[in-house]
Amino acid sequence: MASIEFVKVSKSFDRQTVIQDLDLTIEDGKFTVLVGPSGCGKTTLLRMIAGIDPQTSGSVLIDGKDVTRIAPGKRGVAMVFQNYAIYPTMSVRENIEFGLVNNKVPKAERKRLVETIGATVGLNDYLDRKPSTLSGGQRQRVALARAMVKDPSVFLMDEPLSNLDAKLRVQMRIELIELHKKLGTTFVYVTHDQIEAMSMADTIVLMNKGVIQQEAPPEVVYRKPSNLFAAQFIGVPPMNIAPLGDDRATFGFRPESVVIGTEPESFHYTAKGEVITREMLGSETIYQVKTTDGHAFMVKCPDDGYHVDQQVCLGVPADQLFFFGPDENRVDEKDNRHREFMERLRGLAHG
Ligand SMILES: Nc1ncnc2c1ncn2[C@@H]1O[C@H](COP(=O)(O)OP(=O)(O)O)[C@@H](O)[C@H]1O
Ligand SMILES: [Mg+2]
Repeated sequence: MASIEFVKVSKSFDRQTVIQDLDLTIEDGKFTVLVGPSGCGKTTLLRMIAGIDPQTSGSVLIDGKDVTRIAPGKRGVAMVFQNYAIYPTMSVRENIEFGLVNNKVPKAERKRLVETIGATVGLNDYLDRKPSTLSGGQRQRVALARAMVKDPSVFLMDEPLSNLDAKLRVQMRIELIELHKKLGTTFVYVTHDQIEAMSMADTIVLMNKGVIQQEAPPEVVYRKPSNLFAAQFIGVPPMNIAPLGDDRATFGFRPESVVIGTEPESFHYTAKGEVITREMLGSETIYQVKTTDGHAFMVKCPDDGYHVDQQVCLGVPADQLFFFGPDENRVDEKDNRHREFMERLRGLAHG
């Protein structure tokens, strides 16, 4: 087990600075998910931990020790990639024990280890098969087993599930959560998929353009997003946002917080509009409603009884409203602008 620390870390490729003066502590034994749009620097961070592509300046510490001069193989980390590197000509067993053979681990000990790890990832019935006869999920498990056999103190995973189909992805998410619980090892998991981040993370590290936007447990990022970016990145559909005046301040509310009806009701914020799209997803339906003054708001609710072109009224309770200042940071209840923003919004009923 090990913690990881970035201290004033910068990374440039040629002249392009991708990460600048980044500070971050990843807790020992936690499942930490680095999430953010494609190109924001997630893989770059992971590769700096692994030592594959070291930082330009600053320090990376593993378990309190500066690892700048320590070779990738000696850092006690194992990496699992999106395109899992498994050898097609070797059996599952040979794939898993490959590193052990290289390290001259005795045969009996290898057999024991492969079977213990095979059982942990549910591969023991497949040890003598070739990877080509396995499903995508099983192959991903071989890749995991190959990482586990090294007994690393840190697992680094870079979008390991993105090549799997949707159903398998959901199943593997659960398996990874269970694996983490079983091993108790530090997991650093990279994804651009906010649902993966929400469902697996103890701690989410949300990034944009090389800068950490928020670092918090999933429910905190969801309920108390630090800024407009966090508010709109986490949650599907994303938070509705509209201007609050002419100073670039904005307000927002989540699609699931909207009360939709045919008669106006008394809520802190209300709007009238017309249903322009309807997506019935089973347990819930997503509507896009265009307000009379031109905003398009998403509404998510269990009621599938509204139809396209129908006139509807939207209402949002006061405690479900979010406010963001002109600098895009969230203005919370303790901020003395909050009251003023609430007042402004009361006069802003749309339509
Ligand atoms: N080897 C490289 N050479 C030049 N630029 C790179 C290299 N690797 C990454 N980058 C750039 O660094 C930025 C971050 O990339 P990356 O860490 O791969 O993002 P992510 O994993 O979040 O999608 C991107 O703008 C990318 O083009
Ligand atoms: Mg990447």
